[in-house]
Amino acid sequence: MAFPQHFLDELVSRSDILDVVSSYVALTKKGSNYFGLCPFHNEKTGSFSVAPDKQMYHCFGCGNGGGVFKFIMEIENLSFPDAVRFLAKRANMDVPEDTASREEGRRRQRVLALNKDAARWYYQNLSRPEGAAAAEYLNRRRIRRKTAMDFGLGASLDSWDSLLTAMLEKGYTKSELLAAGLVVQNQKGRLYDKFRNRLMFPVLDVRGDVVAFGGRVLDKSEPKYMNTTETIVYSKRRNLYGIHLAKKTKRPNIILCEGNIDVITLHQAGFDNAVASMGTALTVEQTRLLSRYTKELVLCYDNDSAGQMATQKNIDLLKNSEFTVRVLQLPRRLADGEYVKQDVDDYIKFQGPAAFASLLSGSAKQLDYRMDAVAAKYDLTEQDGKIAYSNEICQLIASIPNAVEREVYAGRAAEKAGISQEAVLLEVNRLRGRKRGQEKRALQKEALNVRALHQPRAQALRYTDEPSAAAEEGVVHLLLADPSLARRCGGLREEDFSAPWLGKVYRLLLEAQREGRTATLDSLSGSCAPEEIGRLAEVMQRPASMARAEKAMDDYIRVIERAAEKRRESADPLRAAVERSKEKKGYGGKRND
Ligand code: UTP
Ligand code: MN
Repeated sequence: MAFPQHFLDELVSRSDILDVVSSYVALTKKGSNYFGLCPFHNEKTGSFSVAPDKQMYHCFGCGNGGGVFKFIMEIENLSFPDAVRFLAKRANMDVPEDTASREEGRRRQRVLALNKDAARWYYQNLSRPEGAAAAEYLNRRRIRRKTAMDFGLGASLDSWDSLLTAMLEKGYTKSELLAAGLVVQNQKGRLYDKFRNRLMFPVLDVRGDVVAFGGRVLDKSEPKYMNTTETIVYSKRRNLYGIHLAKKTKRPNIILCEGNIDVITLHQAGFDNAVASMGTALTVEQTRLLSRYTKELVLCYDNDSAGQMATQKNIDLLKNSEFTVRVLQLPRRLADGEYVKQDVDDYIKFQGPAAFASLLSGSAKQLDYRMDAVAAKYDLTEQDGKIAYSNEICQLIASIPNAVEREVYAGRAAEKAGISQEAVLLEVNRLRGRKRGQEKRALQKEALNVRALHQPRAQALRYTDEPSAAAEEGVVHLLLADPSLARRCGGLREEDFSAPWLGKVYRLLLEAQREGRTATLDSLSGSCAPEEIGRLAEVMQRPASMARAEKAMDDYIRVIERAAEKRRESADPLRAAVERSKEKKGYGGKRND
């Protein structure tokens, strides 16, 4: 859905970022900016800032940042169009919706209403004779009536069309029932209920709307669960089962488990901070949702290999997040002389809530778990293993927000790799610096995008390695003036360029030469930004002695290659450290690679 540009411009100008953010965050003025506690991660000192002059916000702690639309998208968990509507309402502006999108909004409301009525109908079935099997199943799973009510559990009936009939009677149309995913159509075009003879779990989103359903069989038949697939009101990757309740918890963390019943059992046992990803891998969208309510996640997956795999996957996903992540390893259970797997539901049933509470308070620090997991991946008796281990472990350590903890873990890692703690910390700090640089650049880009609504402005070209860049400009200059000089560029690679855009121009010029085309500034325009072309034009103005062009070319190439080598060396201090330590210990000192 595209909104007219003039409308967006007007909306931005009427939605002052300071006003908007102030209704969510208490801000105090410092210099020309405002500071407060970040609403996107938990913190005690304010690293969240708003710059009214740039109409931007940024958190130095978690890196979240952007303009006013981005802020509303994040804090209200809305799509871009919905954030626009939200701000328009606030600014008292009419949204120029086209009829198609107005119709879609109406249809979404109808589907939500239908879902709610269907959930109510399923729930009422639990008290009817037709729903007795499901009610009995609840007893068997030891789910109390009160809990069932809290979660709105219900029963779909052993019939092909009882929901269909009931909802048509309420005035919903067949097409609405199809859109909600509550009925499906067979090949002959006949409609029938999707969920039959199942225990029904309505899935509520964070606002409390019923957006989908899960249905579990009452016996051992397959498939065990059926779920609503994507609909106009439901996106699997943006929801978590139980989030509408867990968001209100007073506990310091949120427990992430695999299954619907696990969540229900936990809530029933007093752990009102449980949610489930419903059998699928955690997504970035879900972590963003969670970050609004907690800073600590406890992963509590089944103790079988699938659960271990899911745990590892989630840890990888959460690696660069601000969450503290802990892994709660459920012990296997001894039954009939054999250890069997168990999930949270089993554990609570067999060991009781108190036992779970003690597991929860002592759950292994995720960091130790991850440190061990990384170490296990490499052969630390080999030089290459040590280097690879050091590289990966430094990434991990760099992601630790607390400086003291970083030192402690750096010490441990250094010991394992047989190098100095300083070398590890040096690399860790380099990585952190790079990450901050990336965040800053991303923010600048975002700021530019917001600015672009008002006044498109070119970004100045900046060089990170001035001497090399000067030589790179020289090469490009010579090649533009005399393409045949390409014959001297044999060893020079695009990656050797410190300025990626000059590397790109270099490659394009060589390609043109190879294909017998004459490259000009105009022919480069398609592949270059206007400011790059502008810079090239400037470079071309400089005098160059074509008489000594070959010598100049060779000199430039040497400068670029040396600079590139130097950058590569300082980018990999770990390799240097491992090599140094090897020499010191007298393992021969010679590299055999
Ligand atoms: P589990 O198989 O671990 O089920 O799947 P469970 O939650 O422990 O269920 P019980 O205890 O046997 O009743 C975990 C989750 O994966 C999804 C469901 O959301 C389930 O809760 N799932 C599982 C499906 O979507 N489809 C399936 O066929 C199985
Ligand atoms: Mn289970």
